[in-house]
Amino acid sequence: MTDILTIRRPDDWHLHFRDGDIMRGVVPYTARQFGRAIVMPNLSPPVTTAALGKDYRARIEAAVPAGITFTPLMTCYLTDTTDPEDLARGAADGIFTAAKLYPANATTNSAHGVSDVTKIYPVLARMEAEGIVLCVHGEVTDNDIDVFDREAEFIERHMRGIIANFPDLKVVFEHITTADAVEFVKSCGPNVAATITPQHLHINRNAMLVGGIQPHNYCLPVAKRETHRLALRAAAVSGSPKFFLGTDSAPHLRSVKETSCGCAGIFNAPYALESYLAVFDEEGALDQFEAFASLNGPAFYGLPVNEETITLERAETAVPETLMLTGEEIVPWHAGQTLGWRIAT
Ligand code: DOR
Ligand code: ZN
Repeated sequence: MTDILTIRRPDDWHLHFRDGDIMRGVVPYTARQFGRAIVMPNLSPPVTTAALGKDYRARIEAAVPAGITFTPLMTCYLTDTTDPEDLARGAADGIFTAAKLYPANATTNSAHGVSDVTKIYPVLARMEAEGIVLCVHGEVTDNDIDVFDREAEFIERHMRGIIANFPDLKVVFEHITTADAVEFVKSCGPNVAATITPQHLHINRNAMLVGGIQPHNYCLPVAKRETHRLALRAAAVSGSPKFFLGTDSAPHLRSVKETSCGCAGIFNAPYALESYLAVFDEEGALDQFEAFASLNGPAFYGLPVNEETITLERAETAVPETLMLTGEEIVPWHAGQTLGWRIAT
């Protein structure tokens, strides 16, 4: 039995830091584990220009604890009126690593997102030419589409069109939740990949709805039925370079999760690696963990693998029921549970 695992330092290819005090409170959890993170731009107001991205990056860098090396990789929030020139310049200047497509009103702070994907086709053409990665929140927002079908429908209505019109565009299908998305990504060329969150590997939709509403298991896209979870697990441990780690850690205070209209998002940053490792361990696939966590993402983004290593060891890790953030309670993913791995100090 493998009890110790030393791998290249992992990166988180999809993450929400927020801003201000919350950001300063959550950055250390991520910086402790990951060398880099793709930082989502859905602030209020969103990060829509290179100037805003540069300032936001500086605020994050100032929040990294002393003695830790951590690099935030910034993303541009696409809108109907994104200026391709500003985006291209931001990428050339090393400010933006990727741009994020939120269909308008698909999720938290996405009201300024794209109302019709074809409106940003000129931007996508420029991104394809410049090699800028497109990160996609792949859910339709149409009211006639059941919330559990919104990802699969997005593939048919939008993803196939994007890939057909921009065959060389690098696309990351973010936080995939369905067997449909796994199959779609596999069917595309090497320029199409996907991130997978820990929660979608651990839970199916029962965890959200059985025995009472479970707000801390609610995120978007919502967890789907068990067959989909199993397809995601198979993809994650398969060794395919198309699938890599992206936590989608999304901090919302307990007070806005446990209320009559609770926010979508799971705060998994504090024990993210331990959470993923539990899955790889259960699947008998610890030997595939480094590829998923540390190698596939950099290869896709065209970035070097982190030089440093991290050592993980088999040991009981008790996850607290709550953590404090800005003087208020926040409930971490796996609250009250015991996980089987920890980061060796
Ligand atoms: O659950 C989610 N929370 N999904 C998203 O797409 C956004 C995120 C957030 O920002 O809270
Ligand atoms: Zn997200």
